[in-house]
Amino acid sequence: MADKKAQLIIEGAAPIELPVYSGTLGPDVVDVRGLTSEGVFTFDPGFMATSSCESKITYIDGDKGVLLHRGYPIEQLAEKSDFLETCFLLLKGELPTAAEKEKFDNTIKNHTMVHEQLKNFLNGFRRDAHPMAIMCGVVGALSAFYHDSLDINDPHHREISAIRLIAKMPTIAAMVYKYSAGQPMMYPRNDLSYSENFLHMMFNTPAEIKPISPVLARAMDRIFVLHADHEQNASTSTVRLAGSSGANPFACIAAGIAALWGPAHGGANEAVLRMLDEIGDVSNIDSFIAKAKDKDDPFKLMGFGHRVYKNFDPRARVMKQTCDEVLGELGINDPQLELAMKLEEIALSDPYFAERNLYPNVDFYSGIILKALGIPTEMFTVIFATGRTPGWIAHWNEMISNPYKIGRPRQLYTGYTQRDYPNK
Ligand code: ACO
Repeated sequence: MADKKAQLIIEGAAPIELPVYSGTLGPDVVDVRGLTSEGVFTFDPGFMATSSCESKITYIDGDKGVLLHRGYPIEQLAEKSDFLETCFLLLKGELPTAAEKEKFDNTIKNHTMVHEQLKNFLNGFRRDAHPMAIMCGVVGALSAFYHDSLDINDPHHREISAIRLIAKMPTIAAMVYKYSAGQPMMYPRNDLSYSENFLHMMFNTPAEIKPISPVLARAMDRIFVLHADHEQNASTSTVRLAGSSGANPFACIAAGIAALWGPAHGGANEAVLRMLDEIGDVSNIDSFIAKAKDKDDPFKLMGFGHRVYKNFDPRARVMKQTCDEVLGELGINDPQLELAMKLEEIALSDPYFAERNLYPNVDFYSGIILKALGIPTEMFTVIFATGRTPGWIAHWNEMISNPYKIGRPRQLYTGYTQRDYPNK
């Protein structure tokens, strides 16, 4: 129902009336769907001002640095919740009761193993393949293993697929790592929590099973919570777009993983560490800052800036605190961390960054924590994908559970007009 109306006046034509809707939070939106019948499209490359859907899952106020999942601030979830509870919240809309939480945790644990045959599929990859390339392929291939849950119009099938994806992502992530390290894959252990189990599968070997530090498991869990959802970002929008054609959930999540891989999105945490390597020493920071400010140089400070947060990234604050805890627990005195902190200080005091509201984002700190946990740089975006899975599924499920149309943007065509094929 339209709350207000807007008028669009195109020179030489009668005004066009458009409905305006108000959400519970955030800016009003003008419903431009009626424009097609007037022979006009809107033009918004990069979707800077376009709401692609209605959603009840996550709200971001980029100017105020607010991130809410189903109404709950991310800072409170990071402190009081855990990843599986946050998954439940994103998927179902409410926090679970104690009994619901126990049931959900157990259901996830029942699905942590992957089909044995999947190992054969994995074995086809080169050992030096990028882990995101493998994860993208393996997750897409899950649709070939779990035929029994592919009817997207059956809510029960959608639920099983959601459980399978959340449960199997850490197993797949760890398998990908073990494969590249040439170590035997570790089976999941259902006596451990989600994040303990992930660290177990990553770092233990059949020859040596070490207990998992609760501080590190908590840090890992917090990283997953902080990445769990971020409304209509590039990868989530990709999942929705792929899903809008009726594609199965495993294929849609594989599409999301592909979109996440880019350095402007989830690949940034890996790019931060590579950049710090390249800078090498505090004495080189000024020249890299100058490069970042140079319009003729494509270099950007990785881990700085955000499409939506133009004040601060609330996840970055929690991540910074977690970073301190992890480094304290591990007693790490990492020169790269010192470099990162100096870079942050210099960039934040530079007018170029202040004028453009460029602040460290979540990826700036997550890379440093993951490095301290012993996770290789190439695996960083795989961890992000594991954490983002519940968000992707929640959005996909929200779309499929409501009336939706195939996503099909229009264009402003500026190519040749019709011309005849030349006689040769
Ligand atoms: N370093 C230097 N300059 C920057 C940076 C940066 N990291 N980010 C933006 N700018 C500049 C732009 O050059 C532009 O300058 P101008 O106005 O003089 O032309 C201005 O700031 C605005 O930037 P846009 O690129 O228009 O902002 P946009 O919203 O399109 O891009 C993005 C956001 C992609 C995140 C960008 O800031 C970036 O590439 N950052 C580095 C990569 C990164 O950390 N990505 C992680 C994103 S968070 C996530 O996915 C979890």
